[in-house]
Amino acid sequence: MPLFNMKNHKKAGIAALLMILAGGLLSASGNKEISSERGTLPIPPLLEGENLNLVMQRGELKLPMGTSKTMGFNGNYLGPTIRVSDGDFVNFNIKNTLGEDSTVHWHGLHVPAEYDGGPHQVIKAGTTWKPSFKIDQKAATLWYHPHLLGKTAEHVYNGMAGMFYIEDAYSKSLLIPQKYGVNDFPLVIQDRKLNNKGQFIYSPGRSDIMRGYIGNIVLVNGAYEPFLEIKKGTYRFRILNGSNSSIYKLRFSDKRKFTVIASDGGFLPRSFNTASLVMAPAERYEILVDFTEKGKSSLITEIYNGDTFKTMDFTVSDSKGTFYPHPAAFTYTPVAYDTKKNIKRTFRMETRGMGGFIINGKSMDLNRIDFSLKKNSTEIWTIESVGMGMMGIPHSFHVHDVQFTVLSVNGKKPGPLYSGPKDTVLLMPGDRIVIALRFQDYTGIYMYHCHFLEHEDSGMMGQFMVE
Ligand code: C2O
Ligand code: CU
Ligand code: CU
Repeated sequence: MPLFNMKNHKKAGIAALLMILAGGLLSASGNKEISSERGTLPIPPLLEGENLNLVMQRGELKLPMGTSKTMGFNGNYLGPTIRVSDGDFVNFNIKNTLGEDSTVHWHGLHVPAEYDGGPHQVIKAGTTWKPSFKIDQKAATLWYHPHLLGKTAEHVYNGMAGMFYIEDAYSKSLLIPQKYGVNDFPLVIQDRKLNNKGQFIYSPGRSDIMRGYIGNIVLVNGAYEPFLEIKKGTYRFRILNGSNSSIYKLRFSDKRKFTVIASDGGFLPRSFNTASLVMAPAERYEILVDFTEKGKSSLITEIYNGDTFKTMDFTVSDSKGTFYPHPAAFTYTPVAYDTKKNIKRTFRMETRGMGGFIINGKSMDLNRIDFSLKKNSTEIWTIESVGMGMMGIPHSFHVHDVQFTVLSVNGKKPGPLYSGPKDTVLLMPGDRIVIALRFQDYTGIYMYHCHFLEHEDSGMMGQFMVE
């Protein structure tokens, strides 16, 4: 994955826009200052146990610049963090009160096709869906979101998303921060495009669909520039790029280094230190950060082809919390493959004209199965992002049901970010990524698609049948 170079930032421009928005708000309401509306980092409540209830509902999200009409699970915006353990049986009760059809997909979960929550498992307006299945997967930070054909982008943009943690005996035994909301925090990062009333409404233009629906603010857990008060110590952040179609480069204002310990599907074979992290939409990484000094540090989000935003502040007090060593290695079993025996497939992701988003020349058709494969088989897939230079736009590739192993990126061994379990990879124009996937236990229809949601909804998706 090539490093992306950020173009010059129009930071002053966005600051001015926010001042104008805030100014309008202040004169109208007579409120004190914009910072009085900023709060502490919201922590989504945990949802645990055998019976899990979700209500898909409409709501409102109040930001310092205005109030937007939103959608959420069990609340106004986003949803609870579901936390389960490997081996658990879970029964969901998911009520759709949105007034329109939707679905709930468990992104990254190894799950029977009928409960995958893709475009075939529509939850009609006013009805309840009751998937129930066994968790049969190693510890990972997954997430959930709607997946209705042609409506995924809008529903996610409006706020329908939540974290889905799997723990297992191994993860629980590790000496790493694991107290939810104390030293182990979810960070759902999303950019949103506010209009002159300070509201976001899903209305991408044609070029937004092509180039990405890029926002003029960044939210974390649904809040604008919140702060988190912490003691000195080691903290774990489970980060989701929850955007529709923005590539993020994350870093700290003070250039501090942190340790990446896990990717989409669980722990990396080896952790590694870095000062920045590039994330495609839907990708997750877990990081460990040591805060050793009293003071303030900010998390910064640079958006590819967009601006740079302060995302949140960490306020470190003088009191001492707990420091943890950063583990150097974890157990990870890569997908075992055999280049001679395994079936190989190629996926060419391509854009034709404005609005033609295709994989292998075809646009998504719910009535067409693109290929079938055998249960208990391993396959090797090559994904190509066709188009270079001005004609090229980034894509990502996501496969349902499995966590795959990346074998190569542009002919080279993958870098550390792609050394562990993955369900989504980023492809810059011209990139070619080879992955090994193991399909087992379940049969049925699953999706593969670009996770730039505007591309997905425009047809960059296909389906395969495991039989
Ligand atoms: Cu995160 Cu097919 O989706
Ligand atoms: Cu998925
Ligand atoms: Cu795409």
